[in-house]
Amino acid sequence: MKKFKNKNLTASSKKWITRQFNDPYTKLAKQKGYRSRSAFKLIEINNKFKFLKNNLNILDLGSAPGGWSQVCADINKNGKNLSIDILNMEIIDNIFFYKKDFNDSDFLDFINDFFKRNKVDIVLSDMAVNTTGNKDLDAIKTNAIALDVVNLSKLILKTKSALLVKIFSGKDENILIKNAKELFKKIERIKPDSSRKESREMYLLCRDLKII
Ligand SMILES: C[S@@+](CC[C@H](N)C(=O)[O-])C[C@H]1O[C@@H](n2cnc3c(N)ncnc32)[C@H](O)[C@@H]1O
Repeated sequence: MKKFKNKNLTASSKKWITRQFNDPYTKLAKQKGYRSRSAFKLIEINNKFKFLKNNLNILDLGSAPGGWSQVCADINKNGKNLSIDILNMEIIDNIFFYKKDFNDSDFLDFINDFFKRNKVDIVLSDMAVNTTGNKDLDAIKTNAIALDVVNLSKLILKTKSALLVKIFSGKDENILIKNAKELFKKIERIKPDSSRKESREMYLLCRDLKII
C-alpha cells in the first residue's frame, strides 16, 4: 500500500488520504467520471434489484457531490430528477438541484410543488450526519434522519415504488426496520461490496407501499 507523507498534516488526515489513494472504488470513480465512489453503491444495488428505470419521478436526498444523481441522470433520461442537499452541487445535465435542508418546515410542500402534486416513484437518501467518532451516537442520529425519510416517503410515494435509504447498523436499527415494515411490503437490508467494510453504513431498500 502506498503511504502518504506530509509533515503538515495530522495523523488522521494522512490516514484518510492514504485510504482514499489506495481505494479501488475511488480510482474507478475517477476513471468513469463519477463525482463520488458512492455512485458504485447505487449501481450495485440497482443491478441486483432493478428499481431505477426511465420515465420516473426520482428524488435524491443528500445528493452532493452528485454520484447518485449522475447515475439517475443516465438511467432516468426522460423522467424528472430532483436532487437536494444543504451543500452546493455542481450542475449535472437532466438534474434539477436545489440547495435546501431536508428538515425545512416547508419541505413537503416544496416536493409536492416541484412534482406538480404528482406522486414520486423513487426516493433515494444517502444523507448522514457529520460523524462525531462516537459510533453509537452517529448511528442514532443517522437512523433518526432515516426514520424521517421513511415517514416523508409514505406521503409522497406511489404505491408501486421504492425507497433506498442509508442507515447505520446499531441499537435503534430494529425500530427503524419495524417502522419500515409497517409501511412497505418488501424490505431488503443491504451492505454493498463498495461500502467500506469498517463502516456501519447499510442501506434499506423498501418497495411497494402498503395501502393502509
Ligand atoms: C454521503 S453524502 C452523499 C453522497 C451522494 N449520494 C453522492 O453519490 O455523491 C451525504 C450528503 O447528505 C447531505 N445532508 C446531510 N444532512 C442533510 C439535510 N438535512 N438536508 C439535505 N442534505 C443533507 C450532506 O450535505 C452530504 O452531502
